[in-house]
Amino acid sequence: MTKLLHSTCLLICISGVIGLAAAAAGHPGCKTRCGDVDIPFLFGIGDDCAIHKGFRLECNATKGTSNPKPFLGNFEVTKISMEDGKVWVKAYMSTQCYDQSTGGMSYNDASANLIGSSFWLSYTDNKVTVIGCQTLAYMTTDSYVIGCSSACDNKVNKLTPKNGSCSGAGCCQANVPKSIQYYQGYFNEGYNTTKIWMSSPCSYMAVMETASFNFSTSYLTSSVFYDTYKGVVPVVYDWAIITSKTCEEARRNKTSYACISNNSQCIDNLTNAQGYRCKCSNGYEGNPYIKDGCKDIDECLNNATYPCKGICTNTLGNFTCSCSPGSYMMNGDCMPKKKLRFDSVPVVVVSSN
Ligand SMILES: *[C@@H]1O[C@H](CO)[C@@H](O)[C@H](O)[C@H]1NC(C)=O
Ligand SMILES: *[C@@H]1O[C@H](CO)[C@@H](O)[C@H](O)[C@H]1NC(C)=O
Ligand SMILES: *[C@@H]1O[C@H](CO)[C@@H](O)[C@H](O)[C@H]1NC(C)=O
Ligand SMILES: *[C@@H]1O[C@H](CO)[C@@H](O)[C@H](O)[C@H]1NC(C)=O
Ligand SMILES: *[C@@H]1O[C@H](CO)[C@@H](O)[C@H](O)[C@H]1NC(C)=O
Ligand SMILES: *[C@@H]1O[C@H](CO)[C@@H](O)[C@H](O)[C@H]1NC(C)=O
Ligand SMILES: *[C@@H]1O[C@H](CO)[C@@H](O)[C@H](O)[C@H]1NC(C)=O
Ligand SMILES: *[C@@H]1O[C@H](CO)[C@@H](O)[C@H](O)[C@H]1NC(C)=O
Ligand SMILES: *[C@@H]1O[C@H](CO)[C@@H](O)[C@H](O)[C@H]1NC(C)=O
Repeated sequence: MTKLLHSTCLLICISGVIGLAAAAAGHPGCKTRCGDVDIPFLFGIGDDCAIHKGFRLECNATKGTSNPKPFLGNFEVTKISMEDGKVWVKAYMSTQCYDQSTGGMSYNDASANLIGSSFWLSYTDNKVTVIGCQTLAYMTTDSYVIGCSSACDNKVNKLTPKNGSCSGAGCCQANVPKSIQYYQGYFNEGYNTTKIWMSSPCSYMAVMETASFNFSTSYLTSSVFYDTYKGVVPVVYDWAIITSKTCEEARRNKTSYACISNNSQCIDNLTNAQGYRCKCSNGYEGNPYIKDGCKDIDECLNNATYPCKGICTNTLGNFTCSCSPGSYMMNGDCMPKKKLRFDSVPVVVVSSN
C-alpha cells in the first residue's frame, strides 16, 4: 500500500516536472493543453493567451465526450506543430447523394474561408480527393477550379476500383495550389448517380490530408467514407506571422518581433504564406516564440540521430565525439593506436615465410 502510494507520488512528481516545463512554455496563467492536444504559445486559449487574436483557440466541451476539444473558429484542432508551422484541423467534406424521396440529387457543398487569417491550406500535405462512380467534382477557389472525374464503369475508363488506389477508378485526386485561403466544394450536375443509385448512391469531394486517406471500394457502395470521418476530414493548414516585412525588417521592431527566444532564427522565404515564422537554431529545440524557449539539445542522449562511437560530450548547440587516449578516430570509429615495436618485425618476417 505504502509502496503503491509512493510510486503514485513518483508519477505525480515526474508529471509535475513535465507540467512545469509545459507551463513555462506558455504565458503565465494560460492553459497549454486542451483535452488531448498541446497548445504551445503563439497559440493560446482565450483572451490574452495567444500572440494575437488570430491564434486564439476556444477549448470547448463537446457533446458525447468527457474531454474538451480546441477549436479554431469552427474547426476542431487535433494537432499543432511548432517546428513545421502546421496545424491539423477537421473540416467538412462535400457530398452529392441520390434522394429517393424526390428522385433527384441532393447537394452539400462544404466551404472554408480563411481570408484575413494567419492560415493557408497546405499544398504539400493535402489533396483534392473525389470519390464516386459517375462524378466530376471540383475545389473552387477565388482564382482556381481544380478537380477530377471518377468512374466505375469499366467501359468508361477501362479500370476497376481497387482498394488502396486512387487514380480515376472510383476515386481520383488533384493537387492543391499554393496560397489558398478560400475554397468550396462543387459537383458538376451532369454527372450524377440517378441511374446507379442502387449500387452507388453518393459521391464525395474532400480537400484533405493525403496521408490520412486510403481508398476503399466500400466507400462507393455505402456511407462508410462519410461515417468513418463523421463528415469531417483532417486538413493541414500552414500558418505564419503575417507581415509584408522581411525577417530583417521585422526584427527591428522589438515590441512586435515574434522570434524572442535566444538561439532562435527567423524564416521568411515561406512558399505558401505571406510573412515569417521562427525556428530554434541548429542544435536547439523547443518554442522559439517564448523567452528562453529554445533549449540546447543533449545530442549525447540520442546516438541514433547523433551517432558517436567514442566519448560523446554535449556542448551548447552542438556536441563533440572524441576517442580516449591511446585510440584515434577513423571513419567515425575509435581505432587503437598501433605501437611500433621492434619485436613485431621478426614475427612478420617469420609468418610470411
Ligand atoms: C465555444 O464556446 C464559446 C463560449 O461558450 C462559444 O462562444 C463558441 O461558439 C464555442 N465554439 C465552438 C466551435 O463550439
Ligand atoms: C443527371 O445527369 C444527367 C446527364 O448525365 C442529366 O440529364 C440529369 O438531368 C441529371 N439529373 C439530376 C437530378 O441532376
Ligand atoms: C476492399 O476492402 C474492403 C474492406 O476494407 C472490403 O470490404 C472490400 O471487399 C475490398 N474490395 C476489394 C475489391 O477487394
Ligand atoms: C490501404 O488499405 C489497404 C487495404 O484496403 C492496405 O492493403 C494498404 O496497406 C493500405 N495502405 C496504406 C498506405 O495504409
Ligand atoms: C512596432 O510594433 C508595434 C506593435 O505592432 C506598433 O504599435 C509600433 O508602431 C511598431 N513600431 C514601429 C517603429 O514600427
Ligand atoms: C538566454 O539569454 C538570457 C539573457 O538574454 C541569458 O540569461 C540566458 O542564459 C540565455 N540562455 C541560453 C540558453 O543561452
Ligand atoms: C528557404 O527555406 C528553406 C526551407 O524551407 C531553407 O532550407 C533555405 O535555406 C531557405 N533559404 C534562404 C535563402 O533563407
Ligand atoms: C557541430 O560541430 C561540427 C564539427 O565541429 C560542425 O561541423 C557543425 O557545423 C556543428 N554544428 C552546429 C549546429 O554548429
Ligand atoms: C550507441 O551507443 C551504444 C552504447 O554506447 C553503442 O554500442 C552503439 O554503437 C552506438 N550506436 C551508434 C549508431 O553510434
